[in-house]
Amino acid sequence: MRIIKNQLFCLKSIIYIVNPKYFFKNLKGEKCMSKILVTGGAGFIGSHTCVELLNAGYDIVIVDNLYNSNEKSLDRVKELTGKDFSFYQYDIRDKENMRKVFENHKIDACIHFAGLKAVGESVEKPLEYYDNNIAGTLVLVEVMRNHGCKNIIFSSSATVYGDPVEIPITENCPKGGCTNPYGWTKSMLEQVLMDVQKSDNEWNVVILRYFNPVGAHASGRIGENPNGIPNNLMPYITQVAVGKRAELGVFGNDYPTHDGTGVRDYIHVVDLANGHVAALKAIQSNCGTSIYNMGTGNGYSVLDMVNAFVKVNGVEVPYSIKPRRAGDIATCYCNPAKAKAELGWEAKFGIEEMVRDSWNWQRENPEGYR
Ligand code: NAD
Ligand code: UD1
Repeated sequence: MRIIKNQLFCLKSIIYIVNPKYFFKNLKGEKCMSKILVTGGAGFIGSHTCVELLNAGYDIVIVDNLYNSNEKSLDRVKELTGKDFSFYQYDIRDKENMRKVFENHKIDACIHFAGLKAVGESVEKPLEYYDNNIAGTLVLVEVMRNHGCKNIIFSSSATVYGDPVEIPITENCPKGGCTNPYGWTKSMLEQVLMDVQKSDNEWNVVILRYFNPVGAHASGRIGENPNGIPNNLMPYITQVAVGKRAELGVFGNDYPTHDGTGVRDYIHVVDLANGHVAALKAIQSNCGTSIYNMGTGNGYSVLDMVNAFVKVNGVEVPYSIKPRRAGDIATCYCNPAKAKAELGWEAKFGIEEMVRDSWNWQRENPEGYR
């Protein structure tokens, strides 16, 4: 029944009729994915993913309330791809407006980035975080279901592993306790989406657990645009390098790592963006629920990142050692083999491209999109 439904659905798309490759794929029961809703598409990871989706030939529709982003990023997505798309400045919690989006467009799948992500702020404002991230996702998923769109890719985080019981972290590593409301929203939403899929096997849910996204599009036209003082390492480094901040504070040099500073799995945002394009393939083949780590499998320390940044870009990054940051763990990097085996995806860019492109974006846009 499900296969027949998919066949009928796909016949709507002319490409599936005229292209024998796709036609035969269809006979295997794969879905046709052509129009993708991207929530949070104006943000850091969303804007890079939109570029890769458009370059891969998908139509996209973006919903973003611009709470943590700027519409200029979308102008630049158009400039980089030469393609147009619909943009709605809506809040995903606004059910009426979300209904309109689904009435105006036949959406095949949703890539769901929209959410608040500042760990420290989430400790100060837990209600706002639970409301925005959890209530927002519940509205989105309900509207999707009511319009027969049952395919979602969700932005989760390595934070759900807590202090991981194994390194490198595989997807089988049990989830751990989170130290902040932001982390809990990711952990809880994974559960919500898995339960939705369990209740109705027409759903396909792909959970992508991002490690540490850094870098920017090589053009320097889109990148990370944090408000206020950056929480994360790379935007702090670039703001020191460009002269906006005096020095980097390195949070602890007494961890059990090769140089005493925290080790993480940094991943170039363009690689991560392409991970989403690859994840659409899992949906196409009716994956049910699938979870993938999105990282490189390499662990670099804070000082590795600073030293690479200085060497590759030829700029100074003054730093001093500060006490450990509450809630930090020593080492966190993944085993990305599952994504390679099942999605055919792996990160291509290394530490040099990460620090080069982060700097290129910051140097070309010292005030971000402002
Ligand atoms: P971002 O803040 O740049 O992008 C999120 C976008 O969502 C913003 O444009 C924001 O305006 C929008 N948004 C927030 N709440 C909304 C709402 N209620 N309605 C409509 N739009 C809303 O963040 P990002 O770094 O691109 O992260 C994207 C997703 O990936 C987030 O869910 C984040 O939690 C997750 N994630 C990010 C990282 C990271 O290090 N950047 C790591 C792991 C997971
Ligand atoms: C942070 C979030 C985590 C989120 C992840 C990816 C916290 C506690 N955790 O993790 O929930 O999923 O980002 O976005 O914020 N560092 C410095 N100086 C700085 C900033 C960072 O030394 O000014 C160090 C940290 O101690 C850490 C490393 O740099 O060792 C990376 O930090 P960060 O970029 O904040 O990422 P995570 O701690 O991995």
